Amino acid sequence: MSVVEIYESMDYGPAPEGRDHADAWLAGHGARFGLYINGGWRKARGGESFDSHNPADGARLATLAQAGKADIDAAVRAARAAQPGWAALSGHARARHLYALARLVQKHARLLAVLETLDNGKPIRESRDIDVPLVARHFYHHAGWAQLMDSEFPDQAPLGVVGQVIPWNFPLLMLAWKVAPALAAGNTTVLKPAEYTSLTALRFAELCDEAGLPPGVVNIVTGDGRAGELLVGHAGIDKVAFTGSTEVGRQIRRATAGQGKKLSLELGGKSPFIVFDDADVDGAIEGLVDAIWFNQGQVCCAGSRLLVQESIAEAFLARLKARMATLRVGDPLDKAIDIGAVVDPVQRERIAALVEQGVAEGASMYQPPAPLPAQGCFYPPTLLTDVAPSSVVAQEEIFGPVLVAMSFRTPGEAVALANNSRYGLAASVWSENVNLALDVAPQLKVGVVWVNSTNQFDAACGFGGYRESGFGREGGHEGMREYLRPAAPSKPAAKRKPARRKTASRPAAATVVDRTPKLYIGGKQARPDSGYSLAVQGADGALLGHVGEGNRKDIRNAVEAAAAAGGWTAASGHNRAQVLYYVAENLDARRTEFRDRLRAMTGQTAAAATREVEAAVARLFSYAAWADKFDGAVHQPPLRGVVLAMNEPLGVVGIACPDEAPLLAFVSLLAPAIALGNRVVVVPSPVHPLAATDFYQVLDTSDVPGGVVNIVTGPRRELAAVLAAHDNVDAVWYAGGDDGGTQVERASAEDLKQTWLDDGSARDWFDARQGEGRGFLRRAAQVKNVWIPYGE
Ligand code: NAI
Repeated sequence: MSVVEIYESMDYGPAPEGRDHADAWLAGHGARFGLYINGGWRKARGGESFDSHNPADGARLATLAQAGKADIDAAVRAARAAQPGWAALSGHARARHLYALARLVQKHARLLAVLETLDNGKPIRESRDIDVPLVARHFYHHAGWAQLMDSEFPDQAPLGVVGQVIPWNFPLLMLAWKVAPALAAGNTTVLKPAEYTSLTALRFAELCDEAGLPPGVVNIVTGDGRAGELLVGHAGIDKVAFTGSTEVGRQIRRATAGQGKKLSLELGGKSPFIVFDDADVDGAIEGLVDAIWFNQGQVCCAGSRLLVQESIAEAFLARLKARMATLRVGDPLDKAIDIGAVVDPVQRERIAALVEQGVAEGASMYQPPAPLPAQGCFYPPTLLTDVAPSSVVAQEEIFGPVLVAMSFRTPGEAVALANNSRYGLAASVWSENVNLALDVAPQLKVGVVWVNSTNQFDAACGFGGYRESGFGREGGHEGMREYLRPAAPSKPAAKRKPARRKTASRPAAATVVDRTPKLYIGGKQARPDSGYSLAVQGADGALLGHVGEGNRKDIRNAVEAAAAAGGWTAASGHNRAQVLYYVAENLDARRTEFRDRLRAMTGQTAAAATREVEAAVARLFSYAAWADKFDGAVHQPPLRGVVLAMNEPLGVVGIACPDEAPLLAFVSLLAPAIALGNRVVVVPSPVHPLAATDFYQVLDTSDVPGGVVNIVTGPRRELAAVLAAHDNVDAVWYAGGDDGGTQVERASAEDLKQTWLDDGSARDWFDARQGEGRGFLRRAAQVKNVWIPYGE
């Protein structure tokens, strides 16, 4: 036989991974598990249970407990009781526990990989070579953060008890992403795995015992969405961390609105995979295989939208189809399998229905001829071409091995198509021209960009989305921040003075000449749409003047003006600094006027009012200083390459100001946002709005481009809720302190925008540690990680 003949006649034989250890482990538990609470196992109080199956053959693997209210209560109680002791340990002591967990994951790596494959259906190659090693890496990395807590997060404290809900696509890896940073920071946790895939979490509970974790530090409760709902809504938790569908993310946002819980959401995606005509085509084809057929395409950041440059599209698709024909679908435990089983028949039906819908809308479908296994839950690798950008298959997350392909002509068109999605999780860019790739990367509205690579993850590099892909980051420095809060005791909440409502008609002496400030929109004064004004009273009850009563229409106009002022975002930090210095200079020049205005509004002494104006000038200087210094980072994960963690502005930020320190708080919120390139719509204090409205004259004389700062006076709660519901607003900060924040959180659920609720009355705005700095800048930015491998 010639070598050629050997090559041509060679075929794969079965190469199954043994499952004896996993079967023995299951049998050792009678294939029945309870809930892991307070370091022990207990039955669900309600006695309800459900089965977990192997999707590759439909066989029952185990019967699991469905946690009910009493069980969730018990788990949260255990976590609460354990938290002070856990937080009181030194960072080093917590590091030793996390290190022990990392070591134990490595020691039991094979069992964990096999269990994961049995439970989820993913190829053993992936669970063995990707999932489990990344789990260990995550615990090692976070052992490091625990060790460095005191030096790297000196002014931070843990949140308390966290509730964590994870999906079924990377069961143990998502557990690691959640548990490791929570524990490193000194929190305790109640984690609910997905109902399809709980087994590795239950094995992990045993590892917690082996690692000597104090009881109650980690609690694992199994069950379906009902258990998740009970957990995230529980009054005893301080933070919710969720990974899963955008729909459930939205429900969680609504359910937790106003509960004061910190929230991070890692949701769905429809990530573009962009291939330019100068790309290394072989590399791009292999990248694509990884992007969309890794884990059967059940990956939140799957490269599910192929955008290929028109000049190479035909040839590229032909090669892709040839490559698809060589993909092997089959027994996930077989080491030579590329594509395993889909997690559950429900998911397979969902995939099939979406593909049918796409075809009905005009898409052409290609599936390679290789047969699927006779039994089990499999779906073939699928390519859809002739797809319109608005088609359901181009817009919806299919979460299966289905790629949709479209073409583009120019880089601009590629960016427009890529951003034509409500999601914004990840993107992959393929070009041998580094200038082109690095020009396109920042234009993509996503949290992660992989240049000439795809699906790269590392514990040191933050991961998370823009837009409806959620908010918050997992991994790295920014991931740790999600589990911390400022430790410095804030100023004790001042008793809020009720807004004066009585009507006074006696004009104050200081306002003999009636100046009625208007709204400030797009760099121009604008009359309120309502045609109404609101009376503003001074400290002595005298009428100081009127301000416009802004409404929904005014907010819409202001947002439109802010959205159009994109030039500000494109300007350099240096340029923005110059403008902020100029604003400070002009405010300083009018210090007497502002002092008198503050005195008339608040009744404070001349000295106190002068102090506030001076502090506002100094604050503007601070953010002028920061404008060119809030740098990102360069990570060096274990790959030949670098990862640029870039701080990008959010876009349009809505800001509702507190009543306290009406000039200083207004400046303290506005300045960090615009220093980083955001454009803002500000709602000043309804009680003391005049310092803010006077401020637009300062803006007018300071070269601030129209639309960068818009000021809409009126009812704070209502206007903030309109901002939170507006599609073109990217984030809302509510410092009103009252229940307006609840409305903001609820309204923000629609498009899952970021919100920041801050009780402005609990902050000492004069104290630079509380009133300015990185904490504000971090709120004004989101991190984009751009992965750039190097070498041939
Ligand atoms: P899902 O979002 O319902 O499930 C994720 C987790 O949330 C599970 O642990 C589930 O029990 C829990 N959960 C469900 N309802 C809840 C509620 N009201 N409150 C709290 N927790 C709740 O996802 P599902 O139904 O399993 O999959 C449906 C689709 O969601 C998929 O086809 C895919 O498009 C998307 N998905 C996306 C994921 C991602 O990582 N981006 C992960 C899982 C699903």
